[in-house]
Amino acid sequence: MSLSSPRFSILHSFLIMLCCSVITAKSVAQSNTNDSIPNRKWWKEAVVYQIYPRSFKDANGDGIGDLKGIISKLDYIKSLGVTAVWLNPIYSSPNDDNGYDVSDYRNIMSDFGTMADFDALLKGMHDRGIKLVMDLVVNHSSDEHEWFQQSRSSRTSPYREYYHWWPAENGKPPYRYSLFDVNHDAWMYDKTTNAYYLHYFSRKQPDLNWENPKLRQEIYDMMKYWADKGIDGFRMDAFQFARKDTTWPTFPKGYEKNFGQYYYMVPGLHGYLQEMNREVLSKYDLMTVAEGAGNTYEDAHDMVDADRHELDMAYAFDGIDVAKSTGYSVLKFKQVFSKWDSVFAEKGWLSIFLANHDQARLVSRFGNDRPEFRALSSKMLSTFLMTMRGTPYYYNGDELGMNNPGFTKIEQYRDKATLNEYQYQQNHGADMPAYLKEIAFSSRDNGRTPFQWDDSKNAGFTNGTPWIEVNPDYKTINAAAQEKDPNSCLNYFRKLTKLRKDNLALVYGKYTLLDKNNPNVYAYTRELSGKKVLVMLNFTGKTAAVSTPFGSSNANPLLCNYGDSAKTVKTELRPYEAVVYLLN
Ligand code: GLC
Ligand code: CA
Repeated sequence: MSLSSPRFSILHSFLIMLCCSVITAKSVAQSNTNDSIPNRKWWKEAVVYQIYPRSFKDANGDGIGDLKGIISKLDYIKSLGVTAVWLNPIYSSPNDDNGYDVSDYRNIMSDFGTMADFDALLKGMHDRGIKLVMDLVVNHSSDEHEWFQQSRSSRTSPYREYYHWWPAENGKPPYRYSLFDVNHDAWMYDKTTNAYYLHYFSRKQPDLNWENPKLRQEIYDMMKYWADKGIDGFRMDAFQFARKDTTWPTFPKGYEKNFGQYYYMVPGLHGYLQEMNREVLSKYDLMTVAEGAGNTYEDAHDMVDADRHELDMAYAFDGIDVAKSTGYSVLKFKQVFSKWDSVFAEKGWLSIFLANHDQARLVSRFGNDRPEFRALSSKMLSTFLMTMRGTPYYYNGDELGMNNPGFTKIEQYRDKATLNEYQYQQNHGADMPAYLKEIAFSSRDNGRTPFQWDDSKNAGFTNGTPWIEVNPDYKTINAAAQEKDPNSCLNYFRKLTKLRKDNLALVYGKYTLLDKNNPNVYAYTRELSGKKVLVMLNFTGKTAAVSTPFGSSNANPLLCNYGDSAKTVKTELRPYEAVVYLLN
């Protein structure tokens, strides 16, 4: 979701909605310098692997991924070299939005298993040194949550103020745009109490009323319940929407084209975060990241400035928003990432990501998924993600270079946001073939097809009928085949996680952009305690020149996605080439 300034591509997505062998990673000698790194934290050094449980591995043959499935793959996850897992929501849910509509925050979705499965999963991760970050969906609940059932039952219910209601005798409420509603209308009339309730997302996702201290306390208690179980962090879903101006002013006509200016981080939100920090976060060693980073760099920075005691790291969408179905500018991409890095150069911390469960596949969107370039460009992008400052969030399946499935019919889609928007477009006379083309690029379902384990039926994801079609390319693109190939994307990714782990310069080191105006190549150094790592990435399918202050001086090659090891700094890169050197 695009929750940061000043673009809103989740909205867009919804609306239009070698290779390489690898040179052994050498570590920057750092043993005697680590002590001098200020504010070292496990979550800064983590590589977070995002698992979409519904599509990862189905253990019981019902076609839906589950916790036992994840447990069966823990050794695989460990083998990647990742150190933390972010799990999309696994709480009880009627699945209007695949778990982002929670009906019981203290239970496990029946599709996914039981609390005993959860406990086993958490233990299995911790036994392997992997931390677990849970999704926390508290901007809204499901309409099937007990609180909402009570709230809608009567105007005098003690739960009434857990949600936002507008009495119908006051006329129609001022228009609020909804991201998922089939009419884009966030107010839903409910006849039991003759009132409208607010839902920024789907009708089955009523917004919780954070103004109500009782509601906030319920949430904090629930967070403690999970923290006491021993989880290691929270990813806070859509949290920058949590605060509303409950005087309900009328917004200017057409505001929905820029709704973030009105919806994100309404004054008072930082106060909620500080209270949450006091009540819960400060009492545990929890890592926290909120989806979205506000409308301004200041907002983003304030949210994760350690002195303010709010959250740990910002998750900004400007970078991911650069790429559209029409392509993107590498110069713009470099500018955006360089700017965000500069904002956090002294204080605060950033997430680095280019894909997640709300986006197209990494290689289809930012690379080139044609057969001759798929693996190369996928490795190049992974090299970027693993060599920037900030904590990398890496989406499951990207380590195989999985790509968009190329759906051509609306029947192939499952995502409510996509289906409702399709309906909306149809109702408004849009060019539907063009819309279908657009969603083949941008729909969230592109990133949600089942994980491709092997070349057996359904890619080894399930013995049953998968809830969403498997990408037909699984016969060639799958984990089992890549295990056997030392030059596969999978094995390259393992080299990358090791490279990052062995070189703290890649985590904490100063970032310096080189060859700034080069429209094809992204080159930068990362520098810590006198050790300098040089990264050069060709973002195009053509040979490209690159000019750095190092000319063609001697250097130690650490990694190259073509598998060779030039001992001098290159001045020309092959198509989608990625090289990493230790300078000195
Ligand atoms: C976030 C989630 C997305 C979900 C929405 C509503 O953007 O990442 O998947 O649909 O919030 O909870
Ligand atoms: Ca299952």
